[in-house]
Amino acid sequence: MGSLGMNMAFNVVILAAGRGTRMMSDLPKVLHPLAGRPMLGHLLETARSLSPQRMCVVYGYGGEQVPQVMAAADVVWALQAEQHGTGHAVMQAVPHLSDAAVTLILYGDVPLTTAVTMQALLTIAAQGALALLTVGLPDPTGYGRIVRNPLGQVTQIVEHKDADAAIRQISEVNTGLMAVPTKQLAIWLARLSNNNAQAEYYLTDIVAMAVADGVRVQTCQPDAVWETMGVNSKVQLAELERLHQGQVARQLMERGVTLLDPARIDVRGPLDCGRDVSIDIGCIFEGVVKLGDSVSVGAHCVLKNVQIGAGTQIAPYSHLVDAVVGEHNHIGPYARLRPGTTLAADVHVGNFVEIKNSQISTGSKINHLSYIGDSTVGKQVNIGAGTITCNYDGANKHRTVIGDHAFIGSDTQLIAPVTIANGATIGAGSTITKDAPADALTLSRSKQLTITGWQRPVKKAKV
Ligand code: UD1
Ligand code: CA
Repeated sequence: MGSLGMNMAFNVVILAAGRGTRMMSDLPKVLHPLAGRPMLGHLLETARSLSPQRMCVVYGYGGEQVPQVMAAADVVWALQAEQHGTGHAVMQAVPHLSDAAVTLILYGDVPLTTAVTMQALLTIAAQGALALLTVGLPDPTGYGRIVRNPLGQVTQIVEHKDADAAIRQISEVNTGLMAVPTKQLAIWLARLSNNNAQAEYYLTDIVAMAVADGVRVQTCQPDAVWETMGVNSKVQLAELERLHQGQVARQLMERGVTLLDPARIDVRGPLDCGRDVSIDIGCIFEGVVKLGDSVSVGAHCVLKNVQIGAGTQIAPYSHLVDAVVGEHNHIGPYARLRPGTTLAADVHVGNFVEIKNSQISTGSKINHLSYIGDSTVGKQVNIGAGTITCNYDGANKHRTVIGDHAFIGSDTQLIAPVTIANGATIGAGSTITKDAPADALTLSRSKQLTITGWQRPVKKAKV
């Protein structure tokens, strides 16, 4: 979404001072996450994509928490210490706005407004009109109504609480989003009164003022009503989350990704997929995730900030965080890759294997029940079931180095720091405390003993 066709400067004001009582939460409403990120973050990113001259967020409830969490170089913050209505909120932003530009007003709790819709409002305002985003609702209860004269021109907005029965019949409502020439906005705001049912300064009263001053009021509509849906409760937050996830799933499928069920995927950050990627049900993608061509992700995997090479298969119930996985790997089921893990090509990591801060080279296999931490593992290494790198001595962490073509027998403990040289074989059940030389068998194991004629104890007879 490039910048505006006419290359026009504009301000953005985001109203985010409201308390959100019905969220039943100590967290300010606009910080509640949608798709893994605060609602306000979605709006800032969308607005940013249109290259505004200034962005001003009006904050209040929750104090400095909102500016602290959402701090950004291109955002200025205006405190509205007490909430006296939407008009009063915009007044707090006015000193930060550039007079020469138009001002786009957004709601911090309406997170899914698209850039296309924002641009439509801005284009109208750039021609000197007051632009209103409206929708027709089957049940308009609670909303401000758009009142038109017999010619169809907007004359005013009347809030539900101030409306008589005839006006309450109107189904066209104010979404709250608008774009206004800034000079006039400042003048109109200064003339607002709070003489109404809620004793608030209504931003919506500027509409009648515009009409009186001969400024044209023009409406436009979003492509979808969900773009204008606000979040007032956890129920509405969950509804918007599902809508958003549905959109993301649709986009993935349109780009060729196979989703076994588009209703059962959660994407909480940028997910980049190659060709012929397949994703089974119940997967969660967080942060920045890149899946190469022909990657398949099995059911119920969680992938966070990972990169997966072409042709790699991730079997169900695997958990991968901050890891880089090469091509044609087999991961899982039930594998756990922790931060700092790098796997080269053709690596196999099987069930109940945990790898942390380790580099595993091409063709190596760690197939069952192992913990590999702070290790460098060479090529074509076979690590037997139940192998554990003992990397932590209670105070410091140490590295384990395993050379190419080494074979580690099952149930081995490698006490770091330790080096297993190229081609070394470690006998099963060993506790390795010293470096093992190349191409030799090393083992530490007590000798096996058989006692012939030994008798099992027998139960004493009861008296
Ligand atoms: C407002 C509109 C109404 C519209 C509806 C759409 C006014 C007077 N009414 O009504 O026409 O149909 O939105 O949802 O504008 N806020 C502040 N400071 C305040 C008051 C509000 O920052 O002092 C913020 C809220 O956090 C919220 C937004 O402004 O993000 C809208 O406030 P809300 O109380 O939901 O507006 P409504 O009265 O529902
Ligand atoms: Ca509202």
